Amino acid sequence: MTKTIPTLIENRFGVQPEAGAEQASVGQLTTLLERRTHRQYTEQPIEDDLLDVLLACGLSASSKSDLQQASVVIIDDVVTRAEIGSWIPTMPWIVQAPRFLVFCADHSRTRLAAKLRKKPFPNDNVDQFMNAAVDAALVMQTFILAAESVGLGCCPISEVRSHIEALSELLALPDYVFPIAGLCVGYPARAGYVSMRLPQALTVHRERYSVTDQANLIDAYDRARDARFSIPEQSQREIDRFGVAEFYGWSEDKARQYSTPHRAGFLAYLKARGFAME
Ligand SMILES: Cc1cc2nc3c(=O)[nH]c(=O)nc-3n(C[C@H](O)[C@H](O)[C@H](O)COP(=O)(O)O)c2cc1C
Repeated sequence: MTKTIPTLIENRFGVQPEAGAEQASVGQLTTLLERRTHRQYTEQPIEDDLLDVLLACGLSASSKSDLQQASVVIIDDVVTRAEIGSWIPTMPWIVQAPRFLVFCADHSRTRLAAKLRKKPFPNDNVDQFMNAAVDAALVMQTFILAAESVGLGCCPISEVRSHIEALSELLALPDYVFPIAGLCVGYPARAGYVSMRLPQALTVHRERYSVTDQANLIDAYDRARDARFSIPEQSQREIDRFGVAEFYGWSEDKARQYSTPHRAGFLAYLKARGFAME
């Protein structure tokens, strides 16, 4: 396939685009359209110098009100990493990746500023959680894009939040700081693949939110995605409850994924860490 912007967009969304014919397929546009998660890595180490540069890039991300509410914990200790990996044996890439980081939402410095400057903080509400979580996510994604630009591959690990109390203790996270995700980083051992996204007819709106025919669009997406990469039978979720589906598309997978409670204790955890969530 010749890499033009329209062919890259078609590859990403499974739908021929009208846009892009005038754009040169060079630089970041191409890199972003071909972005992918990597879960297998070579043994090539990532030197500290490069990691520091990538962290500087990640921490250059936009920040809500310049509050800079993100922190990153670099986990180099093999025992600590093995401990985290042992909680999540289905994701061996956590221990195999040359580097592992934990990205945290960090509202602690905002509270400290109020204390240091002896000012009231009449803003104990859920917005504080949201702002910090968004900042941390932007820092993580900016780090990922920087890493990909120098040939590295990454895999975020939100599954660490299924062990959020143990992780917070292991990393000595103070109040007002919580992990949003771990991140595996390494040189990719395989090319990987571009994961097909929902059509923009579902995700992009003009002037007002409006979608007609959502069910049919999702159905068509399920089929197009399955035609490219079908989910093998052994990877179907919750077979004991729902049986083996003859056709197992994206929407069936997501519906099954959230048919059981996940991380129901998260609100209690956030409150215990100081977030009022009012
Ligand atoms: C916040 C976040 C958390 C994620 N958590 C995990 C995870 O715990 N384990 C994993 O293997 N992949 C994880 N991923 C990777 C997603 O599964 C992946 O991004 C998604 O399937 C889309 O694929 P793509 O990134 O190649 O486009 C996570 C991604 C994000 C953005």
